[in-house]
Amino acid sequence: MAIIKTTVNDKLDFDAAVTELKEYFSSLGARKGRQLTYNVLTYGCQLNESDSEKLSGMLASMGLKASSGGELDDADVIVFNTCSIRENADRHLFGNLGVFKTLKKNDHDVVIAVGGCMMKVPENVERIKKSYPYVDLVFDPQQLHRFPVLMRDAIRKDKQLVNISADDYIAEDNFFPIDRKRKFRALVPIMYGCNNFCTYCIVPYARGRERSRDINEIVKELSELASQGYKEVMLLGQNVNSYKGAGGETFADILRAASDFKEFSRVRFMSSHPKDLSDEVIDIMATRPNVEKHLHLAMQSGSNTVLKAMNRPYTIERFQEIVDKFRAKVEGGSLTTDIIVGFPGETDEDFEETLVAVDKAKFDACFTFQYSARPGTKAAAYENQVPSDVVTERFGRLTEYTNRYAEESNKKLVGKTMEVLIEGISKAGDMTFSGRTVTNHLVNFTIPEELGIDPGEDYLEGRLCEVRIDRARPYSVDGILVSLKGEEA
Ligand code: 5AD
Ligand code: SF4
Repeated sequence: MAIIKTTVNDKLDFDAAVTELKEYFSSLGARKGRQLTYNVLTYGCQLNESDSEKLSGMLASMGLKASSGGELDDADVIVFNTCSIRENADRHLFGNLGVFKTLKKNDHDVVIAVGGCMMKVPENVERIKKSYPYVDLVFDPQQLHRFPVLMRDAIRKDKQLVNISADDYIAEDNFFPIDRKRKFRALVPIMYGCNNFCTYCIVPYARGRERSRDINEIVKELSELASQGYKEVMLLGQNVNSYKGAGGETFADILRAASDFKEFSRVRFMSSHPKDLSDEVIDIMATRPNVEKHLHLAMQSGSNTVLKAMNRPYTIERFQEIVDKFRAKVEGGSLTTDIIVGFPGETDEDFEETLVAVDKAKFDACFTFQYSARPGTKAAAYENQVPSDVVTERFGRLTEYTNRYAEESNKKLVGKTMEVLIEGISKAGDMTFSGRTVTNHLVNFTIPEELGIDPGEDYLEGRLCEVRIDRARPYSVDGILVSLKGEEA
């Protein structure tokens, strides 16, 4: 397995394939009497979201437009960007693929492509080859830069093309046209892959070895984003703290460089591994106003025995030290985590230790998962798997616990007036807006009529405002807009 940088020739091939496909889809569209459409279906994490923005950008540059129907099969080119982190993610794909059999039968020109992490698991690829012959293209997440070339070849050959690479590629993002989903938020991957091999996790197999982008390329992209009016950047990596620039730069350098752009109201990042988090990063969070005061630090378990079996190279005591340091330095900061219950060999005592650790850390929010054996990982072969009824029972107890702390964290905001970055109309509908505080607390708020503010979503999205918080819910807080900040309408 090698790490390969894309070359000028790769870019020439890419551009040639895009041009050829543009002509192809244009004449196909003329025959059908309409502009052809695409639908990219995204599962999983923000790195997949980011990949999907690139896939959408590529499809748009082929002259296709995003489908608006909202139905799975309502498009001429359908791309599944899959996730393999837990078993239910797998089920989603195979549950959905069946729908396309009839579609493809009725319209042979429809293109169906499947990519993402699941395609790095050989069993999944075999299953597609055997049971879903109408899938045109199977590609893997390391080869996004070859997507147009592969799609062109699949269409030319008119038979299923499976292309999974053993190499890890790094393509600088200016390689791709990117269709960013939110006009105020830009997802910016700074590194790819993971070297940690936690024993439960499929990611190192699916996403390959760690490779960091060039700091100059990242800064160039940030500068473009700033001048295009983006207000929030999310620096992404499976493990951003192990960023290693070619000139010895660290994640702290990237974070500082991003926060130097005063155009960005918020600089966020995801995810951090406890083993790599430096004091310097905590200091930057504490002192730079546009760097989020929110740290997502996966604990996974509160038991040292389980952490060891998971190949997580820290003790729960060390984890707690980092938590204490963060709480002491980043005033009012919020801390969130991931916890897995039912890891093989987890005893009642181990689980109790997780509850104790949650009590100590008082996480502002927790993402809790039931352990799911991923074929090919070390832990999947462990013999001491925990029975599912025990996992379910522990999971219920843990979520009750973590929800309590999340609600407490939200209650602390009641009565305060907080700065909120507006994200849009809230899911609740009814002209309630939603946004996030610098601590990543979700805020739903209304705009009092007497403020005379035009509540058009487009104009408010990405703006900073002050909201008075008047009610805490388990996963969010409610409030009322006090004032809009910054540029006038
Ligand atoms: N089973 C359950 N949860 C998992 N995660 C990763 N792999 C598994 C698995 N096999 C969780 C971890 C990780 C988060 C993104 O997903 O908690 O931090
Ligand atoms: Fe998976 Fe561990 Fe890497 Fe996170 S650090 S992606 S949990 S192997």
